[in-house]
Amino acid sequence: MLNVQGLTAGYGVPVLHGLAMHIGEGEAVAVVGANGAGKTTAVRCLAGLVRPMSGRIEMDGLDITAVPGHRRCEYGIAMVLENRNLFTELSIMDNLRLAERAGRRVRHGGTRFTMDEVLGLFDVVRERAQARVGLLSGGQQQMVAIARALLLQPRLLVMDELTTGLAPKVVKEILAVLNRLRDRGMSILLVEQSVAVASEMTDRAYVLSVGRVVHEIPKGGWPAMLSDKSLTKAYLHG
Ligand SMILES: Nc1ncnc2c1ncn2[C@@H]1O[C@H](COP(=O)(O)OP(=O)(O)O)[C@@H](O)[C@H]1O
Ligand SMILES: [Mg+2]
Repeated sequence: MLNVQGLTAGYGVPVLHGLAMHIGEGEAVAVVGANGAGKTTAVRCLAGLVRPMSGRIEMDGLDITAVPGHRRCEYGIAMVLENRNLFTELSIMDNLRLAERAGRRVRHGGTRFTMDEVLGLFDVVRERAQARVGLLSGGQQQMVAIARALLLQPRLLVMDELTTGLAPKVVKEILAVLNRLRDRGMSILLVEQSVAVASEMTDRAYVLSVGRVVHEIPKGGWPAMLSDKSLTKAYLHG
């Protein structure tokens, strides 16, 4: 489904050096790495917010490297960015309606999410639908960001530091919803500093260090990875 080859990108100077990764249909894959490893830069490339210096991003075999960010949902990819990028002056409902409208134009064979379904994922999103997003807690905003991304009708959901800084109870609620999405066949790319969260939610992972994939955790390889303290110490700061 998603295929990234030789991605070099940065801010004047490269911070990602030839990143390669792929995500298959229905897979949940993590990119883990310490702070500053280049994870968010990789997500920004996928989102069309950072233009790669070289390399290629393909979705279902189509080259989307030069497709502008606002059109990437048409290829079945939606993001929950690190800063969430919600319209904080608008209500939850208004934020969701904007995405719903954009999502209507998306034509692909994936399952479609209705507004009602998305409102039903998190109680608080439905209960506070008329509340201004700026008044919500971080966890609640994250739920709105997920709901909004789903209304773009993705088959691949990319999430950057989804659970960082959130209370354990909120993290649990969000992960439960992600598990339900997985059951529906959603592909997931989870970019995480937390190996605990990544191991709970994904089948396999890429370990990123200073802009390079230094290790791959294969399917079924999480337990070995979690007990290998040298790897954790070297690349993930404990
Ligand atoms: N807007 C920016 N301008 C310049 N350098 C940046 C910018 N954003 C990130 N960087 C640098 O790029 C490197 C990778 O950052 P980032 O992709 O945010 O890593 P991560 O998400 O893994 O913490 C870091 O050294 C960071 O300082
Ligand atoms: Mg980051």
